[in-house]
Amino acid sequence: MLPHIPPEILEAYRSASTSRPRRSDAERLNEARGSLTGYDCPVCRNKGLIYSETEDGYTVSRPCECMDLRRAQARLRASGLQSSMEVYRFDNFRMGAQWQERFKLAAERFVREGGEAWFFAGGQPGVGKTHLCTAIAGALLGQGKAVRYMLWREASAQLKACVNEPEYERLLRPYKEADVLYIDDLFKTGRGEGGRRKPPTPGDVNLAFDLINYRYISRAATILSTELTIEELLETDEAIGSRVYQRSRGFCFSFPADRAKNYRLGGGA
Ligand SMILES: Nc1ncnc2c1ncn2[C@@H]1O[C@H](COP(=O)(O)OP(=O)(O)O)[C@@H](O)[C@H]1O
Ligand SMILES: [Mg+2]
Ligand SMILES: [Zn+2]
Repeated sequence: MLPHIPPEILEAYRSASTSRPRRSDAERLNEARGSLTGYDCPVCRNKGLIYSETEDGYTVSRPCECMDLRRAQARLRASGLQSSMEVYRFDNFRMGAQWQERFKLAAERFVREGGEAWFFAGGQPGVGKTHLCTAIAGALLGQGKAVRYMLWREASAQLKACVNEPEYERLLRPYKEADVLYIDDLFKTGRGEGGRRKPPTPGDVNLAFDLINYRYISRAATILSTELTIEELLETDEAIGSRVYQRSRGFCFSFPADRAKNYRLGGGA
């Protein structure tokens, strides 16, 4: 045993190890600090791993329980909904009118069923479409789903600018493949001369079809808000509108123009 160690060092080592047991590799590894940020974990000291020793002397590691929490935090950051989720919740959506009650109860049922269905909220501005769609997205995030938020006007401008480049697929993929996609204000465009809304361009329609058809085929949960009613969406593009209509059965809400329902103008309360 240990033939090359000078006797005085061996002696020192032995006396040290009898007075204080030598720490195992696992113990030393567990004491080291890691560099994970976001949550300060007293268990793994921000390494995300817990080390232990097997009976036959191997050092092994397993993930720390804080990794679930860290993944949830990362999903929330990636969703793009972190700040609006705090404002738009189910519990602060008021049901002064019956249509609001139906709208909210359906949104809550959608979360409970949380599967392959789509949720469509279209039409009159200010009726709480963004409010309830955001509350749905927040609740699904809470169930551990990877939810992605797409603000149509911003994201479509960025995507249309690189439509013939490899960049296009790379940027579009996260929206195509998210567990849940929430598109806010689909086909919202700027106002043209005379203050009228400009119709979506062929570029908008192609992009929307690419995305919606992908999610239609893969049966991926999709939440849509738009100022178009489902009829107007069908008129804009039947291939898109009919897919949305088919998937959102039971959760298809269209509000025809009716300023009295605009919450911003005191409606519904
Ligand atoms: N029933 C409601 N209870 C509480 N706040 C509401 C309700 N409906 C709408 N709001 C609020 O009114 C504003 C406009 O609603 P929003 O969801 O943005 O409308 P939309 O997307 O339909 O245009 C938001 O601040 C929203 O929180
Ligand atoms: Mg809105
Ligand atoms: Zn930990």
